[in-house]
Amino acid sequence: MSKALSLTLLWLNWVLVMLVSSNQSLAQPPGINQDESKVPKFTLPELLVCEDGTKVDSATMWESRRRPEVLQLFADHVYGNFPDRTPEIAFSVGSAWEALNGKATRKEITIRFGSEKCTTATLLLTIPNLDNPVPCFIGYNFNGNHTTTEDSRVAIPTSWVRNNKKLDTSSNRASEKERGTSASRWPYQEIVDRGYAVATLYYGDVDPDFDDQFQNGIHPLFYEPGQTRPNHDQWGSIGAWAWAISRALDYLQTDPAIDSSHVAVIGHSRLGKTSLWAGATDPRFWITISNDSGCGGAALNRRKFGETVKVINTNFPHWFCDQFVEYNDKENELPVDQHMLMALMAPRPVYVASASEDLWADPKGEYLSLVNADKVFALYGDSAMPMAMPDPDSPVATGLRGYHLRTGIHDITVFDWQQYIRFADRQLKRNE
Ligand code: GCU
Repeated sequence: MSKALSLTLLWLNWVLVMLVSSNQSLAQPPGINQDESKVPKFTLPELLVCEDGTKVDSATMWESRRRPEVLQLFADHVYGNFPDRTPEIAFSVGSAWEALNGKATRKEITIRFGSEKCTTATLLLTIPNLDNPVPCFIGYNFNGNHTTTEDSRVAIPTSWVRNNKKLDTSSNRASEKERGTSASRWPYQEIVDRGYAVATLYYGDVDPDFDDQFQNGIHPLFYEPGQTRPNHDQWGSIGAWAWAISRALDYLQTDPAIDSSHVAVIGHSRLGKTSLWAGATDPRFWITISNDSGCGGAALNRRKFGETVKVINTNFPHWFCDQFVEYNDKENELPVDQHMLMALMAPRPVYVASASEDLWADPKGEYLSLVNADKVFALYGDSAMPMAMPDPDSPVATGLRGYHLRTGIHDITVFDWQQYIRFADRQLKRNE
């Protein structure tokens, strides 16, 4: 082989390696394990043993002693505590219009956080035109309410949005160009046809998703005099998004068209981490749904498979509380793991979904969180989850927990929604 040819081949090989290593779904980035045989041995923290060693043997004891302890551990070490002081909150309901060929009614509700200094979020509510109050899914969207539908009446956010070459978004401002671009993630027609309302809001309205030391979004509205950023054990962005979706639920509780005892909180990816923390902190949520939430969501930290605590804290320093950084490369020292987050939902239902190509989010670790919450769900008579992971596209469920592994990439699709609707239907039937 000539020298020129071998140099060219070497160069081509290098380009290939660079291309592959820049794509999480194609290859294993350096320092990231995606090989099951390399998952370390670990012991998960006990669910049913209190901090002082007392064993928990009943649902009453779980609820009165251990559950509050576990919730507090997550607040202190992972997501951060919500501040004590709360700004003024106000809702203003815009006029309604017909949507989905007359099958639904749409309206926008402005949620104002704060009074003189304030920030606002717009809740988009799509309600099937039925005679009785309907159950509802609520979840954040990534790019603005207008991206979830082609409906030209849906307002475009005025807050910060991420620039996106594909969507042609620049100057961190949303525009008409993005309308409907995330519609595949929000199958309104199908959800409405099945008798559910859908509420969505843009997460950047609540807190723009970049590290600005918590100067924008809702955090500053909670600062004590002289405070300039959240304390070590106070909330980051996920905490703020979770808290604010509870405020949207406050509104839904006032809307006569919504059956507010049946509001399921749903989220994809970082917004799945958010739905889990919202479901844990606010027991008014009926079902909690996590779609591909991965590290800091449903996946067990101690497996160190795919994204790790250190990687997430380095790339997204604003998501969790500062205390969480103490566990970079020290997952075994965390007083909690994510199976305990699942347990916090009991006896309310929880559904976790993964995607087969989404190794970054550790599908097996997401499944094992649900399995390892068995002991708490058993206190409420729920049967055990099968130990073995189900095959792709074959959902499994106990009475209170559901899981599926969808074939494909990191995304939320109609298939995912169909499983959530089926699970919700079953929960409604259980309560009849
Ligand atoms: C990144 C991040 C994940 C997150 C995801 C998302 O991949 O590492 O933790 O879930 O973004 O929100 O899309």
